[in-house]
Amino acid sequence: MFIDVKNKDKMKDLGKAIGTLLCGGEIIELIGDVGAGKTTLVKGIAVGLGIDENVQSPSFTINRVYNGRDGIILSHYDFYRLNDAGIMANELQEVIDDKNIVTVIEWGGAVAGILPIDRLTINISAISEYSRKLDIKSSGEISQKLMEKITE
Ligand SMILES: Nc1ncnc2c1ncn2[C@@H]1O[C@H](COP(=O)(O)OP(=O)(O)O)[C@@H](O)[C@H]1O
Ligand SMILES: [Mg+2]
Repeated sequence: MFIDVKNKDKMKDLGKAIGTLLCGGEIIELIGDVGAGKTTLVKGIAVGLGIDENVQSPSFTINRVYNGRDGIILSHYDFYRLNDAGIMANELQEVIDDKNIVTVIEWGGAVAGILPIDRLTINISAISEYSRKLDIKSSGEISQKLMEKITE
């Protein structure tokens, strides 16, 4: 499914819409170049999860965790320039298996082997300075249901 996003605020709005649909246990992989808008989308997802805290790029810390509504936790990973996730891979595996946690991953190449098949994959490409095209794919029961709700 393709979605056109005209500007940064619209990207946050889309993230918020996705965030309101989440129940915990979902895995969302974000793909796109630096500046594509991955973290901007996560900021919106956080709002939709009822998180007041400002989401910051976890590039240097790799992982940031936020408490959302209904006991749902947002765990945001960014493996930028990491070839080997090391011990983080074990931690990520536990996070993925936790049904109270929504896991969002930027630059997941280093952990491709542990990402579950059932995940929502959002590929973001820049069309112009402000315009982005999102290619959203699902690959299992949970992600399929989520994608259907996003399209509604
Ligand atoms: N449609 C858009 N969606 C998201 N970000 C946009 C858009 N148009 C411009 N931008 C800008 O692009 C940058 C995206 O940064 P960021 O979300 O951190 O990207 P990434 O995490 O993919 O590196 C921000 O400076 C933002 O203001
Ligand atoms: Mg980012």
